[in-house]
Amino acid sequence: MSAESQPPCHVFLLTFPSQGHMNPTLRLGKKLASKGLYITISTTLDFGLSLINAGSIGQLPSPVGSGFINFHFWNDGWEKDDLRRRDLDLFMLQLELTGKAALTQTLKDRAGENRPVSCLIGNPFLPWGCDVANDFGLPCFILWVQSCSVFSIYYHYSCKSVDFPSESNPCCDIQLPSLPLLKHDEIPSFLHPYGEYKAIGLSILQQFRNVSVPFCILMDTFEELEKDAIDHMMTICPVKPIGPLFKTLKFSDEKGALSGDFMKTDDCIEWLDLKPPNSVVYISFGSIVHLSQKQIEEMAHGLCNSGFPFLWVMKPLPKDMADCLGLKPHVLPDGFLEKVGERAKIVKWSPQQKVLSHPSIACFVTHCGWNSSVEALSSGVPVLVLPQWGDQVTNAKFLVEQFGVGLRLTRGVTEMRLVVRDEFEKCLRDAIVGPKAEELRENALKWKKAAEKAAVEGGSSETYVDELVSKIKKQSGNAMDVQIKSMCSIV
Ligand code: UDX
Repeated sequence: MSAESQPPCHVFLLTFPSQGHMNPTLRLGKKLASKGLYITISTTLDFGLSLINAGSIGQLPSPVGSGFINFHFWNDGWEKDDLRRRDLDLFMLQLELTGKAALTQTLKDRAGENRPVSCLIGNPFLPWGCDVANDFGLPCFILWVQSCSVFSIYYHYSCKSVDFPSESNPCCDIQLPSLPLLKHDEIPSFLHPYGEYKAIGLSILQQFRNVSVPFCILMDTFEELEKDAIDHMMTICPVKPIGPLFKTLKFSDEKGALSGDFMKTDDCIEWLDLKPPNSVVYISFGSIVHLSQKQIEEMAHGLCNSGFPFLWVMKPLPKDMADCLGLKPHVLPDGFLEKVGERAKIVKWSPQQKVLSHPSIACFVTHCGWNSSVEALSSGVPVLVLPQWGDQVTNAKFLVEQFGVGLRLTRGVTEMRLVVRDEFEKCLRDAIVGPKAEELRENALKWKKAAEKAAVEGGSSETYVDELVSKIKKQSGNAMDVQIKSMCSIV
């Protein structure tokens, strides 16, 4: 086959079915496609249908730059709204059972269709992806969708290099190389003896059994943001900070056909356009967190009393989540909407990336998911942190103490404290007006500039991406041969 007639190098990205994973995966996919690669993003059919129903995926394959993006959805074998998806122990096993078989079959099918896969980019929640890639002799990379500091914590936990909180000593502090001293409730809660959702922690830890083989770990972070942690982890494994992934995408890329949102976004930009610069509080807790009704009421009163305009994302409660966990949709206090009038905009789902870069936004009340954290930092927006579980508790510490862009409302799952209305109102004031506010904003703008510098042509992150693309292209010829040979031995 001549070079011209060869199909473009095909990269397969595997992602866990949730918004917090789909966003960085799609952003990386677009980046690679824009440099001429053919990208397939693979997740479950159940999650894929939510993208299709939200109108987030148009005609496929979708051209992006000089490459293409396609999707592959595998059936996880359960009916829509099956409550077992909310039991992560069961769900992780089911994903492995169905996903491994689907991935194996798809890699064979694509080779048969003259679109052989050249490499796989796996996901830390789906560690079996790399095993399948190894079976086919394919190079495997991981897209780590959390911070490098969190990666380092998982790594040191997995190799037991220091004592972590345990049943017998649940409150010990943790000192790891190149990280600040962490209190027991500042490590990802999946690693804490009192934390929930242990199955996620276990899946992530499985990833580290492969860390000694030479694969590279792509991270949605950038050198200047986490220099010490990145330098340290680079001495252990090939970490490549390629973020912030959303920064290099033009908004036009995010519009229409390929947005990756699991819900339709509500329009709120025109409303923001009417507000003065640096005046609006943006409140959003990502795609999963559901706060207590009491907390919502206290926040509503605090917002009402503060006098600030606000944009509040109140996402609908998924039916299976309500049925399984006995949760109820949030209700705003009586007369609240009449009282706040034009000062409030309540939406079900926002175009967060655009919202955070709007000049009217003064601060962001966040649960500190890593995507939201990086988006806020790279958009120069100060934050009020209200972490719940997982890496959110660690991100909250870094946003407040290391990056200097935030004020703390709570500490997360081990504390589960109610933030009362007066306290919330005071924190809003401190973050928007007064001397502390100025310091937060200055720091936030410093990170915005650093993020822009990393993501432009010649910047640190962009250089790592270019190296990755050349490596993938170089290896692709070998990989195709190896894959066809391995297929012969697998069938
Ligand atoms: C989850 C975990 O909670 C998080 O800790 C982990 O780091 C990634 O997976 P999630 O809770 O959904 O993610 O939060 P986050 O990481 O912030 O991701 C949410 C994404 O949805 C962000 O990219 C955000 O821009 C987007 N979003 C959120 C919207 O586009 N509109 C909204 O209204 C809310």
